[in-house]
Amino acid sequence: MDVKIKFEQQDFYANISNIDIKKLSDTDFIKVKNIVETYGVVSIDSQFINDDDQIAFSERFGKLEVSIGTKTKAPDYNLANSTTPIRPEISRISNVDLNDKMLPIDNSKVIFDRGNNYWHTDSSFKEIPSKISILSGREVPEYGGGTDFIDARHALETWEDKPRKYSLSDLNDCICEHSIVYSRKNNTGDIFDEKFKKDMPFVKQKLIRIHPYTKRAAFFAGSHCSHIIGWDIEESRELIKEINDWIIESGEIAEHKWKTGELVLWDNRRVLHKGTGYDESKYRRIMHRTTVAGDMPSYLEKN
Ligand SMILES: [Fe+2]
Repeated sequence: MDVKIKFEQQDFYANISNIDIKKLSDTDFIKVKNIVETYGVVSIDSQFINDDDQIAFSERFGKLEVSIGTKTKAPDYNLANSTTPIRPEISRISNVDLNDKMLPIDNSKVIFDRGNNYWHTDSSFKEIPSKISILSGREVPEYGGGTDFIDARHALETWEDKPRKYSLSDLNDCICEHSIVYSRKNNTGDIFDEKFKKDMPFVKQKLIRIHPYTKRAAFFAGSHCSHIIGWDIEESRELIKEINDWIIESGEIAEHKWKTGELVLWDNRRVLHKGTGYDESKYRRIMHRTTVAGDMPSYLEKN
């Protein structure tokens, strides 16, 4: 196993080569898990895997989430108009349906996926937010279709480098409300039906979380984060915007340009990510994600 660190000063973004995730010993698996938790984002070269391989590897990190499309019975958001079953642990992010046909750019699934092109953490709109996302590049566009990552821990650790209205001690106990209905409405328009909205109400999340492995704090914000409970809504939205802007300004952006067969893992408790977008009318993109479930609501974690 060879490991290279991209941003040493931030302990941020590692690349691993010369491993096969299908044949990892327990010792090597623990090394990979520790690298993900230490560096926040890990790309692994040349893993040509199917869904069973991806699920088997992902389950070594813990229980997996059921994808939003399966949970809400909104097949358009996951199954891409196919009658072919897909495993409920797989979130398919793609403009190609399971019959191998490209979807039109105004298809609801394509519009839904476009919402990923805004900085976010996966599943912060669920009561129990996820730990780690594992994304497999099954077919990647010739141009565009990258994933950018940014370090919300570095942003927290440098927050007070600038004069601020609110210090970290003011923010430490804040609890926010997150919603995918809120974020998609801002970013892609009002795309959900009433049943989906009812199934996906606002959930509570801590604004600052301590990582259980590194014991270091990070902001937990991104586009699903709406406001702080108990604060004036507009004032708290201004603050959340200031935090989200600082997360992007304060540190290095790791721009991942995909090769087919790559696997990228990231720790949603520490980093934000977003898609860079691509010409959906011209290029095919097929990405399969598994998501390692969290243990408890973030507001029950100890800070
Ligand atoms: Fe995402």
